[in-house]
Amino acid sequence: MAYAAFRSIGGYAPSKILSNEDLSKMVDTSDEWITKRTGIKERRIAANDEFTSDMGVKAAQKAIERSGIDKSEIDMIVCATISPDYFCMPSTATIISTKLGLENVTAFDISAACTGFVYILSIAKAFIESGMKKNILIVGAEKLSAITDYSDRGTCILFGDGAGAAIISATDNKEEAIIDIHTGADGRFADLLMTPNGGSGSAHDSLEQEASSCFMQMKGNETFKVAVKTLTKDVVDILNENNIQGSDIKHFVPHQANYRIIKAVGDALKLKDEQIVITVEKYGNTSGASIPMAINEIYENGTLKAGELMLLDAFGGGLTWGSALVPF
Ligand code: ACO
Repeated sequence: MAYAAFRSIGGYAPSKILSNEDLSKMVDTSDEWITKRTGIKERRIAANDEFTSDMGVKAAQKAIERSGIDKSEIDMIVCATISPDYFCMPSTATIISTKLGLENVTAFDISAACTGFVYILSIAKAFIESGMKKNILIVGAEKLSAITDYSDRGTCILFGDGAGAAIISATDNKEEAIIDIHTGADGRFADLLMTPNGGSGSAHDSLEQEASSCFMQMKGNETFKVAVKTLTKDVVDILNENNIQGSDIKHFVPHQANYRIIKAVGDALKLKDEQIVITVEKYGNTSGASIPMAINEIYENGTLKAGELMLLDAFGGGLTWGSALVPF
């Protein structure tokens, strides 16, 4: 059986910064409130003509360059996004494949909100272990500014744009292999985090009305409580099942939604601050892009070295959640 290895990482953040100070001129909020409740100081916003696929391509180009494989060897692209270039079709993954100059690859998107990257990692692992594919490009890319209501202070302070990508390849070496991945979902909590309009479940009379309100809505406080409880259980389970201690983890790379959620889960695992990767202050919550952007950050600043063990965890709309034990 082939094993699946995490071969390389790439990331991209747009240059335009939206600071807490900027937001305090748009809605009734303050830098102090946002920093204290979330840890976020600023987030990046894509240009009007910069699509989710464009950011995904920039992150993918870095991942491909760093992987040592030729792009023609990529046989599948999976994109995790809740802010695709086009709702329904074509998928953002197919647009990315064309912008990268790839032909004849399997390409599709998945929707698992902030857990998207853990989901696509598990899909890549399964396709490689089954022998169906050898080199898979996975991309988490989001233009959340396109689906954010900038008059709602409960959500607009949280989200930002960006992309991250990784190459997952077949290997015979078990030492390099992704150790384990958990994924879960519970639709009973669907109304905690939704874009209620724009789909077949929408109750609006006219398409025009729908299009004007295709924004994310969130019951933040309830989401927060479920997130801490679910994530803590999931990371404890994945470590126990694989006989790995918190101290064996070199880099805990959680989804970057809220510093307080990250800290609560880190404390439950008794992790030291230097084990926990935090980028939420710079980029806010970039949903499916947040974990690969965070991995890219520690790769580019020289903290992440080959062979080091990462623990990933994520939680998002659906509700969905997941965790993964991944040697770099
Ligand atoms: N500025 C100032 N005050 C605010 C703001 C703001 N931006 N937003 C809310 N408030 C007010 C509320 O109106 C409320 O006022 P009240 O007490 O007078 O009623 C008060 O602050 C407290 O509001 P809460 O919602 O209880 O604040 P909380 O401490 O829960 O923080 C937050 C809100 C940051 C949204 C937090 O709940 C959170 O991070 N939730 C989880 C988000 C998450 O993890 N989502 C999953 C991934 S996202 C995805 O899948 C796309």
